[in-house]
Parts: sequence; structure tokens; C-alpha cells
Amino acid sequence: MESGCIGMVHSSTTETIKKHLLTKRGCVGVTEDTFLITFNEKIDFLPGQFVMIGVDSHGLTRKPFTIGKFKDNLAISVKTVGEGSKYIVETTTPLEVIGPLGKPFIPLSSNGVVVVAPSCIVEGIHLSEHFDISLHVCSKAPLNKDFISAVSNDKMEFHIGDDAYLQLLNKLKFEKYDWVFITGSKMMEKIGIKKLTGEGGKVVYVSYNEYMGCGIGACKSCAVMTKNGIKHVCSDGPIFRGDEICFQN
Ligand SMILES: Cc1cc2nc3c(=O)[nH]c(=O)nc-3n(C[C@H](O)[C@H](O)[C@H](O)COP(=O)(O)OP(=O)(O)OC[C@H]3O[C@@H](n4cnc5c(N)ncnc54)[C@H](O)[C@@H]3O)c2cc1C
Ligand code: FES
Repeated sequence: MESGCIGMVHSSTTETIKKHLLTKRGCVGVTEDTFLITFNEKIDFLPGQFVMIGVDSHGLTRKPFTIGKFKDNLAISVKTVGEGSKYIVETTTPLEVIGPLGKPFIPLSSNGVVVVAPSCIVEGIHLSEHFDISLHVCSKAPLNKDFISAVSNDKMEFHIGDDAYLQLLNKLKFEKYDWVFITGSKMMEKIGIKKLTGEGGKVVYVSYNEYMGCGIGACKSCAVMTKNGIKHVCSDGPIFRGDEICFQN
């Protein structure tokens, strides 16, 4: 159910930013602390975009989550890290959502590959299907076996543990991809950029999961320093080229 446009604001696409009420269709465990939620309603969006989700009294602000599709249904994947994400996973009340937000992902060519942690698996599945490219899911913890059998296809590979992630990067370094999209944790992204850019010769894209206030470019709380000056993750991103980012410790 949609409840109208938010003023004249538009995301960086033809899709209008609206408020939506989303009812859950299903919720499956990906790992012990990460869940894939599908919804009955639809939102028009493009790969890489996100929504801000209301968490009732479980947070001061709405929480940002990337949207994707799973078996043709609108979906998000959620790692439970605090009160807000726990509420999103557990509630049976419809979720109040604003979106789609952020710039869509427009890669430099069609010759790429996607690497995600379980928390971003919905984005990974969506990018893999949209661009018809391979998806590598890298997890520190084992994945739910039933989930793996439900999602597996010939474009998807699973890698469990830190060593498996490093081995994957060493392999990708020598494969003939123009670009690698990595999202999940800052550490994963940092290591990926280090291994694959420069000598690795790849363009690495990362989707920045920074703290956000408004999600629409008004509060400036998501400012990050890049080699091209200060950028705002919600309106300039969330996807940036790895060689543009200045990581802080
Ligand atoms: C554009 C965007 C897309 C995102 N997509 C996803 C997604 O698809 N799946 C997913 O699981 N998460 C995603 N996130 C992160 C998600 O928004 C946060 O995990 C969530 O807001 C945490 O809310 P909380 O109330 O559960 O935890 P809080 O109570 O806010 O925080 C709990 C703990 O997590 C830490 N934390 C909270 N937010 C962040 C953050 N953004 N970065 C690093 N540490 C943080 C806090 O420091 C604290 O230690 C995304 C973030 C952005 C900006
Ligand atoms: S979150 Fe408010 S400006 Fe980006």
C-alpha cells in the first residue's frame, strides 16, 4: 500500500520517493543472526538503491536497508545488530518505509562479478540476476543449509571463513573481470580494494553502509571524505568506486 509522494523529492532516477507500508510475506534465516524478508507489496527501484525503514520506538531514526528482489518479491536482508534491526525482523506490524533512495548502480561494463556478506545477500542476488553475472557469498559463520538449497543456482558460490574470502580475492585478481562489486562489512571492502585495485587491475565498487539520519540529503549526517571531496552517502551514493574512498581507522 502506498501513502503518497514526499513533496517534490525525487531519487536520482525516474522513480519518485514515496512512503510505503510493507507487509511481510516471509522471513527465512540466512545465518544465526541474518534474515531474508520478503514483502507482499512492490516498489519501483533500480539496483543498488535503498529504503529507510521506521522502527517505531526502537530507534531515533529510520534505518537504511538496500532493497532487492527474491523470487520476484520485494526483499531485504537484515543482520540483527541492535534494537532497530531486531524489530524489523521480529515485528508482525506493517513496516513504514521511505524510498527508493540513493543513486542506482551503473557499472562501467557488463563484465563484472558480485561479492557479498550474508547481510547484503538480497542486493547480491538482485545484481547477479539484473546483470546476469556471478555472485560470491562470503560468510564468517556457516549458512543455513535449507537456505542454501533454496537459493543456489549455477551463478552462485559460497565461501565460509576468512581464509576462503582471501582465496577468492586471489582468484578474482587473475580472472578477466573489469570490475568487482563488494559489500558487507568495511573490513571486507577495505581488503578487497587493497587486493584488487592497483596491481590487481580491477575497478572495485563498494556500497557504503554508513550511519544515516534522514536518507534524503537534508541532515548531512552521512558525510564521508573521498578523493573528490566530501560526499553524502544517501544522495551521492551509496555506491562508490573503491579508488575514490578515503578509509578512516
Ligand atoms: C545504504 C545502506 C544500506 C544498508 N543495507 C543493509 C542491508 O542490506 N542489510 C543490513 O543488515 N544492514 C544494512 N545497512 C546497515 C543497517 O542500516 C544498520 O545495521 C542498522 O541501521 C542498525 O540499526 P539497529 O537499530 O539495529 O542498530 P543500532 O542500535 O543503531 O546499532 C547497533 C550496533 O551496530 C552499529 N551500527 C549501526 N549502524 C551501523 C552502520 N551503518 N555501520 C556500522 N555499524 C553500525 C552501532 O555502532 C552499534 O554498535 C545499510 C546501511 C546503509 C547506510
Ligand atoms: S542521511 Fe541525512 S544527508 Fe544523508
